[in-house]
Amino acid sequence: MSSNVLGIGLANDLCEPEALAVIHEAYRRGLCSYLTIYLYANYTPEFLRTIRAALPPGLRYVWHAGGEFELPYADGRFADQLPRVAEVASMWSPAWATEDVIVTNFGRTKEAGHPNYVQLLLTEECLDVCVRRMNEITRASPIPFFPEVPHFYAPGPDEMHLATFFRRFVERTGAKLNFDIGHYVSYNLLRQAPMLDRIDEFPLEAVGEINTAGGMVGDAQGLTWIDDYAGPINPITVDCLRALLPRCTGLEAMYTETIGAEPWVVFHNLEILNTLFWPHVEARNNFAERGRVWA
Ligand SMILES: [Fe+2]
Repeated sequence: MSSNVLGIGLANDLCEPEALAVIHEAYRRGLCSYLTIYLYANYTPEFLRTIRAALPPGLRYVWHAGGEFELPYADGRFADQLPRVAEVASMWSPAWATEDVIVTNFGRTKEAGHPNYVQLLLTEECLDVCVRRMNEITRASPIPFFPEVPHFYAPGPDEMHLATFFRRFVERTGAKLNFDIGHYVSYNLLRQAPMLDRIDEFPLEAVGEINTAGGMVGDAQGLTWIDDYAGPINPITVDCLRALLPRCTGLEAMYTETIGAEPWVVFHNLEILNTLFWPHVEARNNFAERGRVWA
């Protein structure tokens, strides 16, 4: 296994009644090696310390932040977030942090999908702001940051395709990305385009992490994609994964978001990801090995 592979992860609300038991069981079965954690404002330090101590030793972490890294149009500077980022770094030592690239959650009180969520503007001005903020984060953050491809809920200012936006963003920042399949699909469906339209232009080689969840096409016209965190991964998503993986040459991790899901859904989704991820990593390692022999 190459050293920069984190493996398969699970995103699960820590306050769910069965969370600890399900995480322990998934880890015991070898189905996941890391947990994507959401650290909501209403979690007390005592609750978090208790949970942290009760999680499996050896389990690793990725932090899904909630506004601390917000890229575009944020008020204040990233430097203002440093005490909070340092606090999370010291308690959880996350391998990296991720956060959807959106304009804002007003008041930073709500999660993606809430009406307060303002989606990314695909404009030159917004790209400039995102690049500036990303470069500031890269210089200052003690935790690496992988921006997440966000969900699109409505047509918006659209000076360039989402794939173009992220290609240009990566060219100017060198950032690694968290690619959410349902979110990319949501953008293309709104444009009445095929689900993976323009994927050839997307910087898949910069994708460090892939995010999957249950989900479905949400209307008769096929214009919307609805994430369903309680549901099993849709075969459509599996097909997308098969198409993408060979080109994700820098992939380090893949996780499933299972919020409020029955335990069987959690294990089922993790098994699918394991089945797809490890052959991909092995093929990549074999390819690198052959390269060394021939060099
Ligand atoms: Fe996210």
